[in-house]
Amino acid sequence: MNHINYIQKTKERVVIIEINRPKHLNALNSELIIELETLLNKISQQKEIRSVIITGSGDKAFVAGADIKEFKDFGTKKGLNLSQIGKQKLFNKIAFFNKPVIAAINGYALGGGLELALSAHIRVATENAQLGLPECSLGLIPGYGGTQRLPKIIGLGLATEMILTGKMIKANEAHKIGLVNHIFPKEELIEKTINIAKSFNSKSPESLCAAIKSINNSFTKEGDSLESQEFSKLFKTTNFKEGVSAFLEKRNPVFNK
Ligand code: COA
Repeated sequence: MNHINYIQKTKERVVIIEINRPKHLNALNSELIIELETLLNKISQQKEIRSVIITGSGDKAFVAGADIKEFKDFGTKKGLNLSQIGKQKLFNKIAFFNKPVIAAINGYALGGGLELALSAHIRVATENAQLGLPECSLGLIPGYGGTQRLPKIIGLGLATEMILTGKMIKANEAHKIGLVNHIFPKEELIEKTINIAKSFNSKSPESLCAAIKSINNSFTKEGDSLESQEFSKLFKTTNFKEGVSAFLEKRNPVFNK
């Protein structure tokens, strides 16, 4: 399938997806969501790819939200579809992806753009990044998981304030409250983010997948028993045998794909 809304590069077993609608500040429209779904489905099957970075094209924005022009005339039914289909095709797909996903925030991450970053497993940002959930200013609320994921990351009080005020916060504030893990200079963003990704790449892929699943279920009733199940399943993998042998033989493990 032809794609027109993103650029894809691969370096060191890391796929870098650059959302490429800079004239619209990389706003997420339905065509882009479908393109990303198709790409993610493909990457999930590619054993040689070990992690994913999502960033935005241009100097100004990571993603400035869902494309407001697309939903301006929607009613309840289409609004529900927008939220449910977006979650199913993209946001939850990223959150439950079988490889680590890092959002490299290079400017505005607003509304659906911040929700996209919240779906990723780790967020890093440039010094000029600005993050916010301004949906209440549009007469809406976040509909792509923002009310669910933001409180888990920064706590209920700060998340409530961010959502109810719709205020944007700058990168240094986001770093202080744990919304982004690291701040990097603009020109080093991708290189430094690849370095984080490379440190995942040396781990057992089955372990990373199981850890993501378990972490996603933290704060849920099932989380504790799911962790035990994921833990136990790993004992039958060859990568577990390799990891333990490597430790006992005092060498680095070589995990298979
Ligand atoms: N959906 C659709 N188009 C968007 C968009 C969005 N979420 N965010 C920006 N754009 C478009 C603008 O309409 C404009 O297009 P135009 O040139 O055809 O008019 C273009 O991107 C540039 O944006 P502009 O507003 O002119 O840039 P700015 O530097 O003055 O302001 C922002 C930047 C991010 C503060 C501003 O664009 C903004 O508030 N965007 C909406 C953020 C939002 O509410 N997101 C949540 C959506 S649910």
